[in-house]
Amino acid sequence: MLECGQGASRREGDPAVGRAIFQRGWIDGRTVSCSVAGTPGKRGEVMTSPLLPYAFFEGEFVPSAEAKVSIATHALQYGTGAFGGIRGYLDQDGRTINIFRLPDHVRRLLQSGRLLRAQLPYGVDDICGIITELVRRNAPRRNVYIRPFIYKAGLELTPKLRGIRDELAVYMLPLDDYLDLSTPVRLMVSSWQRVEDNIIPSRGKVTGAYINSSLAKDQAAEAGYDDAIMLNEHGKVAEGSGANLFIVRAGTLVTPPVTADILEGITRRSIVEFARDAGIPVEERAIDRSELYIADEVFLCGTGVQIAAVGSIDGRPVGDGQRGQITAKIQDIFFTLVRGGDSPYRHYLTRVPIES
Ligand SMILES: Cc1ncc(COP(=O)(O)O)c(C=O)c1O
Repeated sequence: MLECGQGASRREGDPAVGRAIFQRGWIDGRTVSCSVAGTPGKRGEVMTSPLLPYAFFEGEFVPSAEAKVSIATHALQYGTGAFGGIRGYLDQDGRTINIFRLPDHVRRLLQSGRLLRAQLPYGVDDICGIITELVRRNAPRRNVYIRPFIYKAGLELTPKLRGIRDELAVYMLPLDDYLDLSTPVRLMVSSWQRVEDNIIPSRGKVTGAYINSSLAKDQAAEAGYDDAIMLNEHGKVAEGSGANLFIVRAGTLVTPPVTADILEGITRRSIVEFARDAGIPVEERAIDRSELYIADEVFLCGTGVQIAAVGSIDGRPVGDGQRGQITAKIQDIFFTLVRGGDSPYRHYLTRVPIES
């Protein structure tokens, strides 16, 4: 067993890995079509969609309906899991799924697993292999969301991390826009404080910590907003309920540093790179709440929300309330890339051909 993130590499003879990944036809890998969309529901919410037919569960590819755990599962009782959220975009050619920054997502998943002292027989290459094989088997012809997670699968009663059996599971669902991107979103500053590093580390995508996000998201929805911004224990801007945040001040993009109790977002990191390459100055520094009210532009970014322009915060318009120029430029760079257009960042795509 390896601690998560210790870089196990694929071992062809390992039954735990090999059986699942390499024995094609062990489960009928036929092309299955999915007719139900992951459609945006009420603004700021997403309707639950049925899962795509196959999942990875306890070392095997199985029909999603058969991927079930005991009600006594440790992770279910105590939130002792860590997850990833990865998007696969249907390429403009209509027969390729472009997975955005797959190895980086898997590396972060394993880092989150390390926070939970997870021990698994998989390294980055193994998990990337499992995910690409799952995409092939599900053969979607539309945008999808891929959810890998590591969880404490043992049935022990004690809330602890050490010595409890860990498992990896992956499932997929159809997903288009999580937030409606056609008009700028309306946010509030939540009275719920972002969970801090000494309580539950935000830099890992730890399952239990999403109660914090859920409290803020519910509060925002009940007050009529699309989503929430959370401040950290120092009263500085941290992030959205499920997304990182950028503001624009006098042509400079500003985002909170990774020490501000934020998730170390992969979209955030990509945007810093896109912006610098485009000659837009970027600062990673603490952001005061009052800066939200005077910023020229604000946007949320993350795998789920993608890049969402913010039109107002606490009822105060951001700039003129419309999507700003820098936001539009970053959206353009991002969507051109993920849809398979001409882009200098194509190396960030894992392209999975879908057989018809
Ligand atoms: C709390 C939180 N912050 C930020 C993000 C953005 O991270 P990423 O760009 O890696 O998806 C997410 C997830 O999507 C999140 O749940």
